[in-house]
Amino acid sequence: MTDPDLIAYARGQASAQNPAPTGAPAPLPDGSGIAVAGLVKQYRRGQQTVTALAGVDLALPRGAQVAIMGPSGSGKTTLLHCIAGILRPTSGSIVIEGAQIAGLSEKALSALRLARFGFVFQDGQLLPELSAAENVALPLMLAGRPRAEATGRAQQVMAMLGIVELGPHRPGQLSGGQAQRVAIARALVARPQVVFADEPTGALDQTTGHEVMSVLTGACRATGATLLLVTHDPGVASWFPQVIRVQDGRVLAAGAPVAPQAPAPQRSPQMTQQTSSPSSGSTHPRGAAR
Ligand SMILES: Nc1ncnc2c1ncn2[C@@H]1O[C@H](COP(=O)(O)OP(=O)(O)OP(=O)(O)O)[C@@H](O)[C@H]1O
Ligand SMILES: [Mg+2]
Repeated sequence: MTDPDLIAYARGQASAQNPAPTGAPAPLPDGSGIAVAGLVKQYRRGQQTVTALAGVDLALPRGAQVAIMGPSGSGKTTLLHCIAGILRPTSGSIVIEGAQIAGLSEKALSALRLARFGFVFQDGQLLPELSAAENVALPLMLAGRPRAEATGRAQQVMAMLGIVELGPHRPGQLSGGQAQRVAIARALVARPQVVFADEPTGALDQTTGHEVMSVLTGACRATGATLLLVTHDPGVASWFPQVIRVQDGRVLAAGAPVAPQAPAPQRSPQMTQQTSSPSSGSTHPRGAAR
């Protein structure tokens, strides 16, 4: 485990030491979904102040599937981590399903992340000393759920994704695509309201990335989880009905879908083995990436 944010996540801590924000809450009219208002995030780099987010406003309904795109350094990861409560914003408001994230204590943030959010990172970030099934059960164990319940639910999610047979294997024995499916199962195990994914296909070939996107978007749709995904890849973004473009810490445009890219290779039949559940995968929304 190398990502400090994941370490903090697993230990139930927030990783940033920034001051509490001052922005006023800005919930959606019915309090559902995600509402971000005036979000600013500045980092200190030596004597310099780096403004990674320069005032972001967003309103996303519950169950939305949104790709976040933009040049390197534009603030995509910072935006994702602020909304996920991993980083504390410098100022601004983030309301998720009625909860004002920005003002919460470290302990409350940690509990919120475990109970309500799922995370998929670029390389899976599975714990190497645990089996795949134990990795999937981990968020529930960390949340204090009984072991039998955690492992039972992990089996259920792995069955939904068609990866039960991977359960006994250590992450080092898995391919990149298999590891990402395990990571998706882990992200979904606690029935999250929101799944955050930062370039989850960045280390995969196009075919495998396509399969992983099918599993991820299909599973989130089936469970009703909102999906926020950062990507550089227009082929990945073309899976999403809504694309948010970030540049220089600002949202340029939200809502425009990405034009379908050149056809990608066929999905592997392995993806849907062991299950006939529609949630194990979905077809491309515009049928263009097959
Ligand atoms: N911990 C940090 N300390 C100082 N500056 C940081 C830190 N993290 C990010 N930054 C700066 O904030 C800006 C936004 O970074 P961020 O990682 O959000 O960009 P990104 O869009 O995710 O980039 P990439 O596509 O390369 O992952 C960049 O200028 C970056 O150098
Ligand atoms: Mg990034």
